[in-house]
Amino acid sequence: MDREDGPLKVTGAAVYAADHHPDRLAYGYLLTSTIARGSILGMDTGQAAKAPGVLALYTPFNPVKLYPYAKEENAELTPPLQNTDVRYYGQAIGLVVAETFEQARDAAALVITRYSAQQPRASFTDGLPSAAPPPSGTPVVDVLAPGVTSIDQALAAGDVTLTATYSTPVETHVAMEPHATTAFWTADQLTIYTATQGVRLVVDRLTETLGIEAAKIHVINPYVGGGFGNKWGMWAHTPLTAAAARALGRPVKTVLTREQVFSVVGHRPPSSQTVSLGAAPDGTLVAVKNDGVSGKSASNNFYEPVANLSLVLYGSANLHVSRKVVTLDVPVTTIMRAPQESNGSFALESALDELADKLGMDPLDLRRKNDTPIRPSDKLPWSSKHLQECYTMGAERFGWSRRSSKPGTVTDGDWLVGLGMATATYGASRGQASIKVRLRDDGRAIVSGTAADLGTGQSTVFAVLTADGLGIPVGRVVPQLGDSATPPAANAGGSGSTSTNGPAVQLATDAAKAAMVTLATEHDKSPFKGQEVTFSNGEIRGGGREMPFGDLLTLLDVPAVEATATSPRSPVRDHAFRSFGAHFCEVRVNRWTGEPRVSRWLCVVDAGTIVNPKTARSQIAGGIIMGIGQALLEDLRIEPETGRFGNATMADYLVPINADIPDIGVEFLDYPDTLLSDLGARGIGEFGIVGAAGAVANAIYNATGKRIRDLPITLDKLL
Ligand code: MOS
Repeated sequence: MDREDGPLKVTGAAVYAADHHPDRLAYGYLLTSTIARGSILGMDTGQAAKAPGVLALYTPFNPVKLYPYAKEENAELTPPLQNTDVRYYGQAIGLVVAETFEQARDAAALVITRYSAQQPRASFTDGLPSAAPPPSGTPVVDVLAPGVTSIDQALAAGDVTLTATYSTPVETHVAMEPHATTAFWTADQLTIYTATQGVRLVVDRLTETLGIEAAKIHVINPYVGGGFGNKWGMWAHTPLTAAAARALGRPVKTVLTREQVFSVVGHRPPSSQTVSLGAAPDGTLVAVKNDGVSGKSASNNFYEPVANLSLVLYGSANLHVSRKVVTLDVPVTTIMRAPQESNGSFALESALDELADKLGMDPLDLRRKNDTPIRPSDKLPWSSKHLQECYTMGAERFGWSRRSSKPGTVTDGDWLVGLGMATATYGASRGQASIKVRLRDDGRAIVSGTAADLGTGQSTVFAVLTADGLGIPVGRVVPQLGDSATPPAANAGGSGSTSTNGPAVQLATDAAKAAMVTLATEHDKSPFKGQEVTFSNGEIRGGGREMPFGDLLTLLDVPAVEATATSPRSPVRDHAFRSFGAHFCEVRVNRWTGEPRVSRWLCVVDAGTIVNPKTARSQIAGGIIMGIGQALLEDLRIEPETGRFGNATMADYLVPINADIPDIGVEFLDYPDTLLSDLGARGIGEFGIVGAAGAVANAIYNATGKRIRDLPITLDKLL
């Protein structure tokens, strides 16, 4: 199916958080700090307050009241303006509200802020020698075979060993839609349009920081222009805007500028991993050791346990993973597409390739050899794994046999040509979700729940599953997502939307059909009263008669019937759930300039049931494109003296554009994971990016003989 919301988006009919213009709307503009560490001594707001159109100016010296977050999962978030601390460059330290956006922005420029500044901790590399245990989570995990006392002992028993250190820079999401919040109050009831991956998350956090009950907060956000983790939760502009709207008695809208999106909201921390592998001569891994370090902001506790993938991806009797952090005075760190695994896999997949080289083995054969039907960390069987089939299909269709085992030997004019591969993977889960399906007398079905469609195709999945269940054309289903007044479904994160919401949509569709059958057989005026009837192809059938549900509702003068159903979280504890697949790519490196160009890609995906192949293909391709960006381009630089992100613009923070991306092949195996749900879908939002950067690095090595262990692989590293 085409994207059900595609026509709305390309015609501009889809209304995003910044697109709302309630009557008497005022505009907020954030003031942000220009030091990275210290405190604010004073703010001269006199000129700004007198500037044209200014309605209010909130600062730490004249704040709107926000309460600290009490719940443990939110406790690390600090409400803005409640003290004079500065913890990073670009922190929200004020909100100017004016009649127009331009007036607010211009007034903000007139505020003079005096600081007491300290030297920020800005270099991840400088901090590595003093990396510390993480604020939460287990610092070290050892899984050792009987009789083995340490991972180093296990490594020493390997016939072939390898140790190498890999690093990744700060990355950031740069979703196309900047974060925005429009808020207004009707008496004590707050309505808020805000770009988010989960309207319920916003209700939850606003409840705490505004100190009002959830029933008073209505969050609406049906369309999201990309999230990638950066619209999970809530950032400073949202409670400030809501509180300002309350204080002023007017609707207020705050849209972050593109540069503010780099600092006011979160980013992916930098990482370093030292990987040691030990193997038998036939390639069997005997020990995998991965010491991972992640950057962490001084402002919050989120870090990435980047080494974790080493516990689950390849079989080995001995495993060791450690986690450390380097604390930096930088903006808040947060989840970004496949947190810990996309950057984590770069190290593991590169190391496997290096080991294959040492063993004189084809890297695909090395991965085949260490495929395992169990999760190595706890020996639980995988629920449904067809990785060998992915490898085989991918190798055949991509032409892997044409790869030269000698790096730097295949050329095409000025270009060195290399092939690389890596395993793709991401975990799966099924949480609890409630969905409502409403059958209307116009023959349409409305399917609703608090899910979010970040551009993923989630609303199309809702439409497809509801239409399938009812036996009606997809065009007669209207999905309603992103509204906190609908039943509580899964927020969009952790690749869990379809796996969690999909079964609930199916249950709710069945329940709505049952409600329709009950009406047909019990309503006094129903021609089916007292008969045996069925609901199929959108019709009530019985007694030799059939009638579309819309016609029957019209006949009975009943506008609609509806049902809400809840699908529980998965009760399965004796299996582990994860998707697997294989990336194959070709990269060309210019012999004279070192310019790398990805020229071919194929990904074979075993992710359970694929509900809608067209949007699913886009999800996988999108992940791969982001992985190519991670491999070759993305690098947010921290200025050592100031702690400022030095390239916080879309001209300087590079992401792939169309000209950087070849045609991407995606093949789905489509084996339902029936242990996860009857639907059997595991989720695909993050799968495509995992392994992608490793595959590129491996192809570049094959092309040039140069092993680059530090992302991104820019041309200077290849000269
Ligand atoms: Mo995603 S990083 O789970 O939004």
